[in-house]
Amino acid sequence: MDAEHMSGDLEKVLFTEEQIHARLDELAAEIWRDYEGKDLLLVGVLKGAVVVVSDLMRALPGTAPMDWMAISSYGSGTKSSGVVRILKDLDTDITGKHVLIIEDIIDSGLTLSWIKANLASRHAASVEICTLLRKPDAVKVDVGVRYVGFDIPDAFVVGYGLDYDEKYRNLRCIGTLAPHVYS
Ligand code: XMP
Ligand code: MG
Repeated sequence: MDAEHMSGDLEKVLFTEEQIHARLDELAAEIWRDYEGKDLLLVGVLKGAVVVVSDLMRALPGTAPMDWMAISSYGSGTKSSGVVRILKDLDTDITGKHVLIIEDIIDSGLTLSWIKANLASRHAASVEICTLLRKPDAVKVDVGVRYVGFDIPDAFVVGYGLDYDEKYRNLRCIGTLAPHVYS
């Protein structure tokens, strides 16, 4: 599918590439200030966070190592259940490190609270969360997200790493899917 057809599948563009990059620049500056002099490790959650991590790490004024986790959450359809299985664990021993989990989106917060608790139990010095997008439900749960790119309405969004059936991850913008795509 070419890019032109992909954008035809969008109902509405929520954020352009320029808007996302501008916000990531702000977050990167904030993160760099907060973690100055600390042993920071960026932990991306596969696969959705691939694009966020790659842009955010390059927006940082200096180098921070990264690592990746892949998890599968048992859930029906597009909602997660909070029951999580690790498909790929970190390569890094995070004892004493300041871990910053990078996610594409937080919805119910169940996935991230599980990951956060799991990493905290490994004696990290701290575990915080940075998510590009946050849906309204996530505001209600007490998962403790330190950095949020944008708050969005409760609609299914794709692009910039986010997929529908593994498609649209490579869209440069973020948008809502047109109903004709999934109905
Ligand atoms: P919870 O509910 O645990 O879920 O916070 C977070 C995970 O759910 C997926 N998710 C989405 N994926 N567009 C997507 O492509 C969306 O609008 C969306 N909402 C939730 C995603 O895998 C995320 O990690
Ligand atoms: Mg995800």
